[in-house]
Amino acid sequence: MPELLLRRAEKKDLPEIQKLLSTYFLDMEGLEYEAFLLAEKQGRILGCAALIQSNSGELEFLELHTIAVHPNHRGKGIGKKLVNVFCSELSKGLNIYVRTTAPRFFEKIGFENLPANIKTKLWADCANCEHFKNCGQTLLKYKNTGN
Ligand SMILES: CC(C)(COP(=O)(O)OP(=O)(O)OC[C@H]1O[C@@H](n2cnc3c(N)ncnc32)[C@H](O)[C@@H]1OP(=O)(O)O)[C@@H](O)C(=O)NCCC(=O)NCCS
Repeated sequence: MPELLLRRAEKKDLPEIQKLLSTYFLDMEGLEYEAFLLAEKQGRILGCAALIQSNSGELEFLELHTIAVHPNHRGKGIGKKLVNVFCSELSKGLNIYVRTTAPRFFEKIGFENLPANIKTKLWADCANCEHFKNCGQTLLKYKNTGN
């Protein structure tokens, strides 16, 4: 059975990342390729997720962003493995948040739901968003990363 390799993205991976994201009408939203972790098998990218460092005033935190697993490979633990690497190895002791339309997935892998109004404290784009009240994105925080 070929091994699943988890690795940082390189510039050469950009077209394949963009292709995978486009399956779900996602894009890189100004993210740098360096933010992405990839799941690769036999030279094919089967999943990706990005982690970005942000701050709100003096509070620094991490945001998990733009996770996607190839449609033929969903439900095989690839998404969970990608998130686990971020949460266990790359969190630098900071809180990890996610704004997502797939909250059940994140609940299953160790995240907890937070009230929506916290989004406005963490992100200016939420505070200033005219669609905030009808936003379909749930806020969750990884449970094991401090307070
Ligand atoms: C959400 C996504 C990244 C999950 O990746 P995945 O590799 O399919 O998930 P995993 O196999 O690691 O699943 C881990 C657990 O979460 C569950 N799960 C996965 N996706 C789920 C979802 N959308 N809703 C509820 N549970 C989900 C799995 O059943 C599994 O549970 P189990 O441990 O009890 O078996 C993937 O389904 C995907 O690419 N979805 C489309 C893009 C998207 O919605 N991205 C998120 C927007 S922020």
